[in-house]
Amino acid sequence: MLSMIVAASENDVIGKANALPWHLPRDLKNFKEVTTGNTVVMGRKTFESIFARLGKPLPNRKNVIVTQQPDFQAPECVVVHSLEEALEKTKGENVFVIGGEAVYRLALPMTDRLHLTRVHTSVDGDVKLPTINFSEWNLISEERWPKDEKNEFDATYQVYERKR
Ligand SMILES: NC(=O)c1ccc[n+]([C@@H]2O[C@H](COP(=O)([O-])OP(=O)(O)OC[C@H]3O[C@@H](n4cnc5c(N)ncnc54)[C@H](OP(=O)(O)O)[C@@H]3O)[C@@H](O)[C@H]2O)c1
Repeated sequence: MLSMIVAASENDVIGKANALPWHLPRDLKNFKEVTTGNTVVMGRKTFESIFARLGKPLPNRKNVIVTQQPDFQAPECVVVHSLEEALEKTKGENVFVIGGEAVYRLALPMTDRLHLTRVHTSVDGDVKLPTINFSEWNLISEERWPKDEKNEFDATYQVYERKR
């Protein structure tokens, strides 16, 4: 199964200066719960953003990095040079595409399930969620996450499945 997991503001911003434009530990916890034990596929810039934050790849997940650089290397990661190669090398696995914009764009047409955290704010940013035609998707679950002392915005976590 190929899934996408993404957090986007109401104006579809997903990132700014190669980082997330909000502080939402509730969403990071959910991301960890959903993806742990599975395979995560990401663009090279998202990998570098994660590596800058954690000092290592995402733990307890097979990390697959998509890059055009022939010699790119990262410890404990699988490096591929196209989304097709990523899917070839992860056949039979539960695969989550975790961004960024470039890789979401490539993966959206093939994605079966979409985990979308809608962050209830409008922010400036330099990367956006690709256009999703929601008439092609069934909403299968929804949770409201009110803002609190640790989470700066209200958010709604939704899971969609592609209509067949
Ligand atoms: N809100 C969220 O849920 C979320 C999730 C993830 C990321 N983000 C944000 O998104 C931003 C990063 O997104 P981005 O679009 O700039 O970068 P990205 O998708 O993470 O990485 C882009 C890189 O992926 C490689 N790539 C892209 N298309 C390729 C292809 N067809 N074949 C081979 N390699 C390919 C290239 O690497 P090379 O240049 O090495 O060739 C390209 O520069 C950051 O701000 C991050 O914080 C947000």
